[in-house]
This record gives sequence, C-alpha cells and structure tokens, in this order.
Amino acid sequence: MSSRAPSLMIVDDELHVRESLASWFTEDGYEVVTASSGKEALAILGRRHIDVVITDIKMPGMDGLELQRHIRNVDPDVVIILVTAYASVSTAVQALKEGAYDYLVKPFDPEELSHVVEKACEKIRLKEENVALKQRIAGISPEIVEGQSREMRRVLELVDSVAPTDTTVMVRGESGTGKELIARLIHAKSPRAFGPLVAVNCGALSEGVLESELFGHEKGSFTGATSRRKGKLELADGGTLFLDEIGEIPPKVQVELLRALEDHTITRVGGVQEIPVDFRVVCATNRDLEEAVREGTFRQDLYYRINVFQIDIPPLRERREDIMPIAEHFLKKFAAAMGRRVTGFSPEARELLMQYDWPGNVRELANAVERALVVCHEGEIKPEFLPIRPQGSASEPEPDDLSLQAVERRHILKVLELEDFNITHAAKRLGIDRVTLYNKMRKYGIERR
Ligand SMILES: Nc1ncnc2c1ncn2[C@@H]1O[C@H](COP(=O)(O)OP(=O)(O)OP(=O)(O)O)[C@@H](O)[C@H]1O
Ligand SMILES: [Mg+2]
Repeated sequence: MSSRAPSLMIVDDELHVRESLASWFTEDGYEVVTASSGKEALAILGRRHIDVVITDIKMPGMDGLELQRHIRNVDPDVVIILVTAYASVSTAVQALKEGAYDYLVKPFDPEELSHVVEKACEKIRLKEENVALKQRIAGISPEIVEGQSREMRRVLELVDSVAPTDTTVMVRGESGTGKELIARLIHAKSPRAFGPLVAVNCGALSEGVLESELFGHEKGSFTGATSRRKGKLELADGGTLFLDEIGEIPPKVQVELLRALEDHTITRVGGVQEIPVDFRVVCATNRDLEEAVREGTFRQDLYYRINVFQIDIPPLRERREDIMPIAEHFLKKFAAAMGRRVTGFSPEARELLMQYDWPGNVRELANAVERALVVCHEGEIKPEFLPIRPQGSASEPEPDDLSLQAVERRHILKVLELEDFNITHAAKRLGIDRVTLYNKMRKYGIERR
C-alpha cells in the first residue's frame, strides 16, 4: 500500500450515505468503491483487494456483523469499521470482539471517520513494512540447515541469544564446519542486519597488506599508496566486522587491532586523525588460541578482548544426525541448479555417507553431493557416484576372523550404530524380529546404549 492510495469500500443500503461518504473520501485521496448490500460487497471483494471496509450494521439481508464474518474468512487483513445507530451498539461491541477495527455511532462527524480511517491505514502500512522488512532479512540470512543434532541446536540457541547484543563473538571449529555461516547468521539476526557485514581473512595477507586492509591508508603513506583508501574497520561502521582466521594475525597488527577494539577509533596508515567507528566483532578460528597464547604468538590481552562469548561448532563426525539432512539439502539445491531428476540417495549411499568421517566437514559433504550430481543424471545416487570410500581401516582394523559368526557380529554392530541403537529400526533393517536381535546381541555380548 505504501506507494499507492489506500482503497476503501463503503457499504450502506442508503444511497445518500454512500454518495456523501464516497465523495468525502475521494476528495481525501482514497480510492473508493461502494456497495449497497453485504452480498454486493462480498462480490467486489472476490474480485479485488480492498484495504478498509466501512459498513453500516443495519441493512436488509446480510447485516454488517455477518458481512464482517464473511470478510474475515476470505481476507483477515481487511480493516473493518462499523457505523451504527445508537440502537445497535451491543452489536457493535460484538463486532469489536470479532476483530472489527472500530465503530462509530450515527450521526457522526465525517472528520471523525476520516481520522479513524487514517489511523487504520497507518496500521496497514506498518504491517506491510514489517512484512517487507522480514523479507529483506530473509534475503540477508544465509541458508542454513538446522540438522537433527543436539550439538547444532545448541549452536543455534547460542546464536539467538548473542545475536541481538553487541558482544564480541568467537566462533571456533574445524575447517568447513560452518564458522563463516554462523558469523553471517549472527549479523543477519542482529539489529545491525541492515548495516554492512565486512569480512577480513587475516590469514591470507602479509603484515603490511593486512594493516592497510584493516585500517586503510592516506595517500602517499607508502610506495603504491596512490590514493587514500578506507580500511575494513571503517567500512564496517554501523555493521559487523568478521575477522576470519584471527589466530593468524601478525604481532604488530595484533597491537593495532587491540587498540582499535578498545577505543572504537582507528587511524589510517600514514594518517594522524582518529576516526570513530562503530562495529560489532565476530571472529573465527580453527586454531587453538589458548595454545597460541601460551606459545607467545598471540597476545594475551587481545585474546581476552575477543574471547568474550564462544560458539564451538563440533565437527560433522561428532554430530552424525546432521549428515543426511545436510546431504539432502544440497541434493535438492544442486539437482535443481543442474536440472537433474535425482530422487535421493540409495540405502548403500546413505550408509556410506553416515559412516564416513568427513575430515573436511560440511564443505566436503557439499562438494561430494555436487560431484555425485555431476555424474548421476536421474534416479538414486549410488555409492559409486560419491567421491568417498568406506573407512574403518585405520580406526577399526578389519579383523582377520572371517568366520560367519564374527562377520555377523560386526554387521549387527554396524547396523545398530547406524540406527543409533534403536532396536526396532535395526531389526527391521536386518530383516529379523526384535527378539531374534536381542538374542543375537546377548550371544555376541553387544550391549545396548
Ligand atoms: N548447517 C549448514 N547448513 C548449510 N550449509 C552449511 C552448514 N554448515 C556449513 N555449510 C556450508 O559449508 C561450507 C563451509 O562453511 P564455512 O565456509 O562457513 O566453513 P568455515 O568453518 O568457515 O570453514 P574454513 O575454516 O575452511 O574457513 C559453506 O558452503 C557453507 O555454506
Ligand atoms: Mg571460513
């Protein structure tokens, strides 16, 4: 509605009321339609959108209250204002209970009605703005699979509690676990969401370059500084600064960064002016920073300054319940992008995905699924399409005992693990009944978990 005139419908069985109100509101800049009965009003609403309905209560046939109920069923967002003679105030009260915006008692001052309509339109505008805002935030928000694991739920809870604050966050996890994703999510869920999110990879740049990347430089401050340039800290003003691989910052830059974080001001390289900046810091590391502090490669004061609130993302192999939801998410995504009619993973492919250790975590899983879709055009993804091989050789040496019993024991254990020790599910997959499975478990000394 924000960019167009609000639309208004006047419903009254008396022609002169319709006509006078219509000309009044048309002059006020509204787009006005009229209806002489509830039935006609509903017919109009079936054809087009109306923002506000002003209806008389007492009308032959369908009364105002009944009309309101019908409208509520069709479009609960339509604002309804009732007009009533003194005699039917109790009906008006009932209408309010059922969601009418307001009512006026006849005879009323048209100014008064104008005011009520204006307020109603303001309410609609706010609501629409709210929806638009939510859509924009959804656009900013990264795509994230929540998964099934308790670990990931915990991570997302921590994100929800820290995002609205300005607290510095340290995201820790192995490579490919989703540290950057979580940093983006924190930004998107923060009041700074409409401000910039500026990312700096502290590990990829040499000392001099990183320094001018972070703080900017004045013209002529070093050879090659042909013009003045703003640094990332300055560019993050009003938003979030994401310092990726913070553990890799060279000592000299550590000192300067600490000063900037404490004073909330920066000085460009070669400059003297102190520039105030307002940003929130999210850092990420896959290094053990405590150890770096002990070794003396990372300043303890900077460590304390940035290590206020930690979010640890466990490696994928420690939250195996997330493997299939993430794999299926990427399957859908890549299949749509490549136009593949792939239906899912075969049971054997699932098994392989579930038992693999994913040293490259979610990134490796996403790449494996993408690769599978390149070679698989339709039907199910089979293990041979996946660029991974069964593991277990290193951590779980294949026993020499090849007797049927030993093989059966290993197989039962594997299926139990796959099904999280859910006896019903495991028995079903093994093609035996639960009692038989229990007996075999007892026989082979497999304990329930
Ligand atoms: N829960 C998840 N849902 C959907 N995608 C995910 C999830 N976790 C990670 N990813 C995806 O996995 C990839 C790697 O994530 P990201 O770059 O955030 O990892 P990282 O921890 O920053 O890795 P590195 O340490 O190597 O920089 C990205 O494509 C990211 O979108
Ligand atoms: Mg990263």
